[in-house]
Parts: sequence; structure tokens; C-alpha cells
Amino acid sequence: MAGMTDTAFRRLVKRHGGCGLVVTEMVSSEGLVRGIDRTLEYAEYTEEERPIAIQIFGGDPARMAAAAQIVEGMGADIVDVNMGCPVPKIAKHNAGCSLMREPEQAASVVASMAKAVKIPVTVKMRAGWNDEERNAPRLARLVEDAGAAAITVHGRTAAQSYSGSADWDLVAQIARDVSIPVFGSGDCVEPTDIVERMQMGVGGVLVGRGVLRNPWILAQAADLASGRPARTVTLAERGQFLLDYIDLLLHERVDDARVASHDRWVINKVRALGSWYTKGLDSGSHLRTAINSAEVIDQLREILSGFFIGGANTIST
Ligand SMILES: Cc1cc2nc3c(=O)[nH]c(=O)nc-3n(C[C@H](O)[C@H](O)[C@H](O)COP(=O)(O)O)c2cc1C
Repeated sequence: MAGMTDTAFRRLVKRHGGCGLVVTEMVSSEGLVRGIDRTLEYAEYTEEERPIAIQIFGGDPARMAAAAQIVEGMGADIVDVNMGCPVPKIAKHNAGCSLMREPEQAASVVASMAKAVKIPVTVKMRAGWNDEERNAPRLARLVEDAGAAAITVHGRTAAQSYSGSADWDLVAQIARDVSIPVFGSGDCVEPTDIVERMQMGVGGVLVGRGVLRNPWILAQAADLASGRPARTVTLAERGQFLLDYIDLLLHERVDDARVASHDRWVINKVRALGSWYTKGLDSGSHLRTAINSAEVIDQLREILSGFFIGGANTIST
């Protein structure tokens, strides 16, 4: 997830178990082809994250094929195409979900990528552009014929953005219609949601926001699926996750000449995760405010330790 699932976060989630595949944040095909540093950073991963899919966005078949070759050269196990992003900045460039409005173009993007690389090319799409254009079933068949190895469907339209709920009947229908694996995405916020969706004939479930709120959700779903009760997670463990996240981030992208701005980058990353992570916690809004007011790393660590580990989960702000 853009801005959220960096390599540090993915590693920590994977260490807790239950996670079969991680996907990078979406990465610009143009940025990859031009070798832009920031883009390459978004595509970074570590060995412990394998199997890993690098997701790219773009609308030009030749550039997407070139970007797929770069992804393959970086050692990724899978290259995934974003056909789901509804954000105008992406969609207006004929990329993201706007590719769903031009199914033949979308299929030719997949065909040229599949020809260019040996690793599997997969596609992430939505239900369609809007209620009048719910064409995921047709697009799924087209990209399958074009060489896609698997598809993920987030059962909302671009027009819906995140409103309403994901249409899992549509996901299940597509899973029946095509012969490649179909993964479903949308609204798995409790471990039981994942287990229930897994029984709908899909090849797997991709969890987004649920992991940002509860990084143990995948491990808990795996517990349930194997007949055990879902593991309980203490407040101290929840706090330790954020402290470990800070430590991993501090050792990433380190450039001695930019220590202050690196610290700032870490603080901003923890703020971004904090806005999801604190939802549903007692005094979560206070914690959020406290995290957002921290100016230096030590202060951030103190706030987190005090709240989660020292039992001081009434924070004065
Ligand atoms: C902050 C945020 C960033 C996202 N970034 C991406 C992305 O880069 N690529 C992608 O395929 N989906 C992205 N998504 C969509 C999710 O992968 C997922 O399909 C969607 O949120 C529905 O699933 P959920 O209810 O489990 O979150 C993003 C979602 C959120 C909330």
C-alpha cells in the first residue's frame, strides 16, 4: 500500500506469521525506466520478505515491459500491474484504474510484459470504473488470455473509492470464470473475515487496511484456519511492534549527510502508520495526537513506551 507497506513494515508483519506473499507499494514504471532514486527506493525489499511481488503502474505497453524487465532484474518473484488505483494523479495518466476503461490497452500492457519477462505477471484490479462500468469479469478474461498468471480483485469501483463495501460475490464469480488463481481484496478487518473469504473459492485473500491496524491479523487468521484459537496480542507487544519499526527504519536509507532529515522521515512514517494503528485502541485518539506532536525520535519512543509498555495509556496532550 502506497506510503505504508515499506520493506520494514512488511518484514515485521511477515515475522509474525500467516503471510504467504507480500507486495511492495506501487512503483512508477516511468520512474523505474528512468532510474529515479526515489522510485527505486519504493521497490526495495529484503530476502526475508520472499516471495515478493513488486507492483508497478503505467499505461504504455513498451514502457511497462521495460519496467517489468527491471523488476525481474531486481530479483522479484512476481511483477504485479496496478489497475486499481483511483487517485486522479495516477488515473489521469492512463494508469491505475483508468486502464480498466480501456480493456484492450490493459490486455496489451499485460501481453507485452508477459513476453518480456520469465517471472509471473499478475494484475490487481477493481470491480470496474463505476457502477455503469463494472467490467472486472471481462477484463479478467482478457488479461488471462494476454498471459496474466493471477488476478487480484478489490470488489469496489474506482468511483466508490473506499465507500460502501467490497462485492465479494463478484470476486467469487470471477474466480469461477477464469482458470488462473483469483485473489480477493476488501474489508477483511477481523481474522474471521479472512477465514470466511478464503472459503469463497478464491486462491487467497489480500489484506490491506486490516494489517495497518493489526499486524497480527494474518497470523490470527492462520490460527483460526488450523483450528486453534486466534493468538492474543498484549498491549506491550503492540508497542514493541512500533518500536521495532522505528529501529528498522532508522537503519534504512541512511545517508550520514542527512541525519536530521532521516529522523524526520522516520517520524513521518510512524505518524502515517500511527493514524491507522491507533484506531480502536482505548485512548487511541490521544495517542495519535501525542505521536503527531513528537519532534524527535527519543520523544517518540518515550510516548510509545509510556502508552503501550508502561501502562500509561492515558496521555496528557
Ligand atoms: C493507504 C492505502 C494505500 C494503498 N495503496 C495501494 C497500492 O499501492 N496498490 C494497490 O494495489 N492497492 C493499494 N491500496 C488498496 C488495497 O490494496 C486494498 O485493495 C484496499 O484497501 C481494500 O482492501 P482492505 O479493505 O483490506 O484495505 C491501498 C489502500 C490504502 C488504504
